[in-house]
Amino acid sequence: MSKPYASRLILLALMRLLYTVQFALADIRNCDFKDTVSLVNIRPNKQGAYEYGGISIPKNLTANYDYEELADGTRVTRSAHTRGCACKLKQCIQLCCMPQQLLDKQTMKCVTPDDLSLEYLPELEIFSEDLDSTLVDVNEAFIPQQRLPCDNFAILSPWEFEDDAYILFENASILHTINDELIPYRDNCLTPYWYNNTVSLNPIICYAKTAPTTYVNLSFLAISVPFLLATIWVYLYVPQLRCLHNSCLICFLATFAIGTALLSSTAWITYGMEACRIIGTTCYFFMISAFFWLNITCFDLWLSIRGIRYELQLYNPRLHFIYYSIYVWTAAVIFTVIAVTIEHSNINDAWKPGIGIGQCFIKSTSAMLYFHGPSGLLIIFNIFFFILSVNDLYQIKDANYKINGDNSQQYNFATFVRLFIIMGISWIMEVIPYITPINNSNIFKIFNIINTSQGIIIFGVLVLKPRVLILLKSRWKA
Ligand SMILES: *[C@@H]1O[C@H](CO)[C@@H](O)[C@H](O)[C@H]1NC(C)=O
Ligand SMILES: *[C@@H]1O[C@H](CO)[C@@H](O)[C@H](O)[C@H]1NC(C)=O
Ligand SMILES: *[C@@H]1O[C@H](CO)[C@@H](O)[C@H](O)[C@H]1NC(C)=O
Repeated sequence: MSKPYASRLILLALMRLLYTVQFALADIRNCDFKDTVSLVNIRPNKQGAYEYGGISIPKNLTANYDYEELADGTRVTRSAHTRGCACKLKQCIQLCCMPQQLLDKQTMKCVTPDDLSLEYLPELEIFSEDLDSTLVDVNEAFIPQQRLPCDNFAILSPWEFEDDAYILFENASILHTINDELIPYRDNCLTPYWYNNTVSLNPIICYAKTAPTTYVNLSFLAISVPFLLATIWVYLYVPQLRCLHNSCLICFLATFAIGTALLSSTAWITYGMEACRIIGTTCYFFMISAFFWLNITCFDLWLSIRGIRYELQLYNPRLHFIYYSIYVWTAAVIFTVIAVTIEHSNINDAWKPGIGIGQCFIKSTSAMLYFHGPSGLLIIFNIFFFILSVNDLYQIKDANYKINGDNSQQYNFATFVRLFIIMGISWIMEVIPYITPINNSNIFKIFNIINTSQGIIIFGVLVLKPRVLILLKSRWKA
């Protein structure tokens, strides 16, 4: 055998060896990745067992890994390292961040605090099944792992908020006492938390990911926005459509479009807690304004019909528009300020709007109080103005009043009745789920889709009608 040939053989054998080593990276049998800990920098004893966190992990519960699994199950490549199935031998507990880090409740990310030293006693009060409590050191009682199980959460702070009271069991599950919810240790984690000049290890509670049906609804909302904008454009573009109630109508459409756009953006953009709060508050402001604009539009319609009936002098539309604007924006600001004030007050969480806590709008249980309630009242006022308007229109007819062509109030009236019906029906559809217990039926899914398509329906009612289309066509030709 020649020398080069021998060396080539050796090289081949080496490559082969490397090849097998590469493929010897098998997982530990019957052990979930989440149950493993990295044993890097730990030397095994003669039997191949590793000492870790006060336990000895036998050789057959270790393996080489070239990846790590993130909390959501996706794998990322890592340099080859040994892992051991520690959680099968001792109860594990999850820490949200690396040591010396803590979760920032605004950005929802792990941060290394620079101004405050993170020295704290890693003490925890744990409870047995019989609710006997003991004070333990987290590193002694458990195997700590670093994992943040979700991106959307709140940190429980029982000394600060009564509703945050929880019980940590020996198996690291957490019972959130207010809603009697048992959260397995995989679905929560502990973070150092500052309160009243002391640091303690507090758990987080995760909020549910957005359901697929919510995405469908938010998609319809998103599609509604261009339709609303198109409606606004038509009403600005056609000179015959420019009148005071249409100015109010445009304001209604614009505020509604902004609110809708903000609400639907939450499906595609993951906002941090603070951003979510700002988006939610802004959205609430515009949605409430939209209802007030609709309200003032109905009022103005009645006022102008009444003007015809009693042959009152034409009022100054510009001045009225200013009054209306003051009314609407003041009302919307008052509502928003009240909601924000209550959010930051000390009252029971159940009564708070909950903007930014789990969703970027009023939480559904409070929406009745802060949103559907006030908007329902406005709808009742609108009905009142419509009844008055109908009465006046009849009187006008009786008096044989000749309503002249294009600017006829009757046209406007019919349109507004339809617009009002859309808003009224969708209001009813949004409120029904509060009254009836059956919440997840297909009927409600259809209701929700109709509700979120409001912008498209409004476009149909306000633009796709012969009179507007003819005006639009003649404007186009001109
Ligand atoms: C691992 O080895 C130990 C002895 O060292 C044995 O008792 C145990 O059953 C083995 N476990 C598995 C999963 O093979
Ligand atoms: C953890 O312990 C509590 C109280 O003993 C018990 O109710 C719960 O079922 C346990 N959870 C798991 C996952 O074992
Ligand atoms: C803050 O801690 C001190 C003692 O450490 C206690 O007396 C005081 O009541 C605490 N304040 C609040 C608001 O919990």
